[in-house]
Formats: sequence, structure tokens, C-alpha cells
Amino acid sequence: MASSSSSVPVIDLEEVAWESQKRQKLIIEACEEWGCFRIINHGISAALMQEMKSVVRALLDLPIEIKRRNSEVIAGSGYVPPSIKNPLYEGFGLYDFASTQAVATFCTQLHASPHQRDTIMRYSQAVHRLTMEIGSMISESMGVASNLFAEWPCQFRINKYSFTAETVGSPGVQIHTDSGFLTILQDDENVGGLEVMDKKSGEFVPIDPMPGALLVNLGDIATLWSNGRFYNVKHRVQCKEAGTRVSIAAFLLGPKEAAVEAPPELVAAEHRRLYVPITFEDYRKLRLSTGFRAGEALSLLSSSASSR
Ligand code: OGA
Ligand code: NI
Repeated sequence: MASSSSSVPVIDLEEVAWESQKRQKLIIEACEEWGCFRIINHGISAALMQEMKSVVRALLDLPIEIKRRNSEVIAGSGYVPPSIKNPLYEGFGLYDFASTQAVATFCTQLHASPHQRDTIMRYSQAVHRLTMEIGSMISESMGVASNLFAEWPCQFRINKYSFTAETVGSPGVQIHTDSGFLTILQDDENVGGLEVMDKKSGEFVPIDPMPGALLVNLGDIATLWSNGRFYNVKHRVQCKEAGTRVSIAAFLLGPKEAAVEAPPELVAAEHRRLYVPITFEDYRKLRLSTGFRAGEALSLLSSSASSR
């Protein structure tokens, strides 16, 4: 349960399963102070995590013509090849992993074997269940109904960073915030490089590999929804050592159609509403059109821009 000033909190979900007050306190503190936390004993078996990792590694080794068949459903949700701007990076996308149909399409496009398909299906279901559970824990901790996220689309990004001795010091992914509500990341079990920004000092803190653990981080929609209480953690990936780094990010984005806004429980006279309501789709477009990738787009939604 370490929660020192220099490392992100680790929450043991089994340990706090029957202690709702303790759980709520730990979750609120982590969401407010760090915008991220590690979870252990989260119910996804180490075997399934490893199996999924080896499946996506194999898919990432496919010829590029096949990888390109991972087509996008919403902008940026498909295969991203290495580019001049980002030569060390490539990735797959899967929108929306809560849908069996969407997962099946992804598998078919990549010619996944029956075994690979089965692993991807089981992992998607397990991560979706966990995403809903963590979402409920967070909203309950804030005294808000816990079934808010059931229909929200979820997206996988499967990231591969081809790090070599020559690229040490180069960026894998530039500083950004995640745009959605929360992300559950299975990072690489061996190759580090992920760093989160400490809210107070503005310094980067490494997220070192911790096999079996997952990282939960909060995105811009969580800050909007919490009326500014939650920190949308800035993070990046830097090449620090040679080796292929593979991570699987599961994003809980935002409502499909409804606008996101802080629920009434989180708005009061002394906590006036900070942001105007916006649909996730419009928020995503705003990030794309402004090029603001590190949470700055939220300030454009300030509900009293003149007082800022
Ligand atoms: C992301 C992300 C971190 C990583 O996909 O948004 O921040 O470790 N990934 O790959
Ligand atoms: Ni991210």
C-alpha cells in the first residue's frame, strides 16, 4: 500500500475488497494526487496476461500488408505504422472491445488462429469487466451512482516500441494525457520507459515494470466529470534501454451520445461547475483540431472563461 511522495500508489484490490471506506480513501487520494495508480490482485490471471502479450507480439510480427488490414472505425482507431515522426512506434487499435462483434472483426482482419482468437476474446472480456469494476469504484468513492459506464465504448491500443541501444534517449510516445475517462494499461513486463508527471513537482516519475500489476490512469474526461477534482495525468514513453516494448492500453472513453458533465453531487456553491458539457466525440475532435494532446483542450471548455 505504498503511497510515498515519489512513487505512484499501489492498491491491492483483494486487500480492500471488504473495506469500502479504506478503498474509497485510497482511490480518491490516488485520483486526486496522482491521476494514476497500480492495481494488484485485480482478478485477471497472470497466465491470461502473458498469453495475450504473446498473441499480440505474434500479430505485431505479421507482414505489414496484413497489419494494415486492422482498419479504423473512428479516426486513429486502426493500425498505425512506424512513421518518420515516430519511427520507433507502431500499434494496433480495436474499437470497441466491449463488442464481441468488433473483437471478432479485429481477429478476422489479422487472420488470427482459433487459439489467438480465443485468447483475445477472453482478455477483452476480462479487461472490460475490470474496467467497469474500477469505474464503479471510482464513482462510488465520489458518492455517485456506480452504473454510469456500462454503455460507454472502450478501445484497445496495442503499442509496440522498437527500442535499440542507438535510440536510448529518444521518445517512444510524446507527452500526452489520455482523452477518455480512464485507461487500464498492461505495460511491458521487462522493458520500462513509461513515465508519469508528478502533479506537484512537474517531474517525471518512472513506472517501472511490475509483472502481474496493471496501471490505471485518468484522462481528460475524468477531470471534466469530477468537476476538476481528478488529475488527468500527463505521461510519456522514453527509450531508456534496448528491447522491444509491448503494452496494451484499454481506454474507457466516454458516453456514446450523451454529453459528459459533472454530476450534481460534485457541483455545489463552493464547487461551481468548471466545465461546460460536451460529448466525447466533440471533445475528441477538439483535441484533434487544436493539436492539444496534454489536457489543454479542457481549458477551452471552462464554464467561466472570463474569470481565468
Ligand atoms: C497510451 C499510452 C503507454 C505505454 O497508449 O496512451 O500512454 O506504456 N501508452 O505504452
Ligand atoms: Ni497514454
